[in-house]
Amino acid sequence: MPTDVKSLIQEGADLTDRALESLIPSTDTVPASIHGAMRHSVFAGGKRLRPVLAMQAAATISGSVPAGIERLGAAIEMLHTYSLIHDDLPALDNDDLRRGKPTCHVAFGEAIAILAGDALQTRAFEILAGLDSPPAATVQIIGLIAHAIGTVDGMIGGQVLDIESEHQKPTPELVEAIHRAKTGALIRVSVVTGGVYAGATPDDVARLDTFGRKAGLAFQIVDDVLDMTVDSAHLGKTAGKDLATEKATWPAVYGIEQSQRDAAALIDEAFAALAPYGSRADGLKAVARYLVDRKN
Ligand code: IPE
Ligand code: IPE
Ligand code: MG
Ligand code: MG
Ligand code: MG
Repeated sequence: MPTDVKSLIQEGADLTDRALESLIPSTDTVPASIHGAMRHSVFAGGKRLRPVLAMQAAATISGSVPAGIERLGAAIEMLHTYSLIHDDLPALDNDDLRRGKPTCHVAFGEAIAILAGDALQTRAFEILAGLDSPPAATVQIIGLIAHAIGTVDGMIGGQVLDIESEHQKPTPELVEAIHRAKTGALIRVSVVTGGVYAGATPDDVARLDTFGRKAGLAFQIVDDVLDMTVDSAHLGKTAGKDLATEKATWPAVYGIEQSQRDAAALIDEAFAALAPYGSRADGLKAVARYLVDRKN
């Protein structure tokens, strides 16, 4: 990865980590077990790409990364981590490795893992309610995020489709619906709410939405490809899992090479939506390029 993207992602991830550190109750806070479980999964080594996308979307709108946006990023990262804890549960994907560490339910038991996911979700909304943005923008952000993780075209709806589509031959329409919802929706809303935090107009929101929608789909296509092409040690999660459970993936429909081409083409299409911003969108574009070039 070029040094400037690397440092841009690193800076955004560090800012997010500091916010998460101060926003999640310490392991001394009663009841200690759940705070230990929340911290175990949040600080296991995630890439923090959703917070970084929010920050760079904001910079695209306002010219620099606005103060306090790390709390929006931290809330989004907590929602993402909640989705991973629940995704790994025996009742869903039944995984024992996540972010290079034992999954939450392996380390803390199923009951605490379920509750840790729930708790990350409620704490995230508590943080969102206290953002520094103007009240109307804060309400808009909360509504958009709640919708994006919900059942209609959102993360939970996508997870339902994903689980119910195991062991079937997937159609192109089905796999696209799953990917847009289970993963695309949270990526898309990270970009859009970053913009809203920075004062985006309705036209800006429409452009960021187009960009986020394409980048979000590309992200899950790449996740599917990596599952088949990278080993567990480098992935930090169990490789080869999708084939073993006959998941509805992009490569299952189109093969690995076409999937790689599709992801790259989606990123090029996504860039077109950012043309009006000129060089102000360079950071956002660089992060989006990394979404498809990443190796884990
Ligand atoms: C993994 O997301 C789960 C998907 C939605 C595909 P990431 O690849 O962003 O995982 P972390 O946060 O870096 O662990
Ligand atoms: C996960 O999709 C999507 C969500 C967690 C919402 P996957 O099941 O493909 O994610 P990984 O590969 O386990 O990270
Ligand atoms: Mg899954
Ligand atoms: Mg999974
Ligand atoms: Mg996957």
